[in-house]
Amino acid sequence: MSEQRLRIAIQKSGRLSEGSLELMKSCGLKISRGKDKLYGRVQELPIDVLLLRDDDIPSFVADNACDIGIVGENVFEEDRLNGSRENAAEAVMPLGFARCKLMLAAPKEWVFDGAEMLEGKRIATSYPGLTLKWLKAQNVCAKPVMMNGSVEVAPRLKIADAVCDIVSTGATLDANGLKPVATVFDSQAILIRRNAPFSPEKQTVFEALLKRINGVITSRDAKYVMMNAPKSAVRAITEYLPGAEAPTVLELAGSSEKVAIHAVCRESVFWDTLEDLKKLGASAILVLPIEKMMA
Ligand code: PRP
Ligand code: ZN
Repeated sequence: MSEQRLRIAIQKSGRLSEGSLELMKSCGLKISRGKDKLYGRVQELPIDVLLLRDDDIPSFVADNACDIGIVGENVFEEDRLNGSRENAAEAVMPLGFARCKLMLAAPKEWVFDGAEMLEGKRIATSYPGLTLKWLKAQNVCAKPVMMNGSVEVAPRLKIADAVCDIVSTGATLDANGLKPVATVFDSQAILIRRNAPFSPEKQTVFEALLKRINGVITSRDAKYVMMNAPKSAVRAITEYLPGAEAPTVLELAGSSEKVAIHAVCRESVFWDTLEDLKKLGASAILVLPIEKMMA
């Protein structure tokens, strides 16, 4: 791997891998993977991709083996709380996918009436740092039991009373006779980088990539909305459009009262939005997806 190529760590398989690869693709980066499937090379920009276990990503970035990484905020924060490498890696921005929650969960038969119930209990988790931080904030003393996987079986095996684990659909908890009782940490995929400055070459590539990622994220919910409306309604419609900048107002051929309004809406446009626009006088409303955007 060349020293001049920006090295990005992404998850090899799991919650984040699909979204991470999709993001790279949306940024126009095609990854050709090596035979070992652990390493990929991007053609369009001098970027190399390392496919790793998510738990290893923060330390790879902090220790210089990679420049940037895509990782769950849960894994990043846990690493920060446990690590001795404080501030060696920093969060750059949230990426808006792989949302999940770190939750305390207890056997279904528990009648949970507050964090005090956890006093003196053993809590199985892969996230002792985040769990302890939360317990402390609740003024509760409990004992985390560190487990690297299959946390949800701990209560049945009587090695813990409750668990603190990642929940997305809740299916895993349910299948193990557990129910979520409190949210400890809200997580999603984030972009992280090494704290130390990059070489000028890498910095240039990093900035180009950031620009593309920002473009993908801002265009994700954005829509191009077109409609016709009476001139008298332009103001009300403009004020109503969700997250729109100054719209374009165009003359309609053969009509002196009606105009066409075109706008980029940066927030979600729902069916209800269209109904409301109609009530304000709009007709022939079209909502189009936006593929790319750059300020
Ligand atoms: C978590 C957690 C459960 C599962 C819950 O593992 O440990 O196994 O996800 O998901 P569900 O609510 O949709 O059933 P994760 O994917 O984070 O794997 P890892 O700890 O091995 O990285
Ligand atoms: Zn993991």
